[in-house]
Amino acid sequence: MHKPDYHLFVCASFRGTEARGKCIKKDSMQLVSYLEEELADRGIDAMVSTTGCLKLCEEGPIVIVYPQGHWYKGIAGEEAMDAILDSLENGGGPAKQYLLA
Ligand code: FES
Repeated sequence: MHKPDYHLFVCASFRGTEARGKCIKKDSMQLVSYLEEELADRGIDAMVSTTGCLKLCEEGPIVIVYPQGHWYKGIAGEEAMDAILDSLENGGGPAKQYLLA
């Protein structure tokens, strides 16, 4: 089994079986395909998964990066996602401007 260098989690707002949280209303799922394309284009070895509501709706969309354990807030567009992708390309340090305190 190949274990990727990074595992990214994008909040898909599920509470039980319904997407009731706010990240999906802020277009978090539209970023998943962009993220997967960019990871491939940049040659970053990463897996992408979606999650249930992470209980941080007001800060969303939320993205988490492992193994670093970086939690990001306000990932509401390609520019914000690019900041995370740039950080991964540069060794996995935090994209500080979006880091959840
Ligand atoms: S829906 Fe994403 S944190 Fe609640």
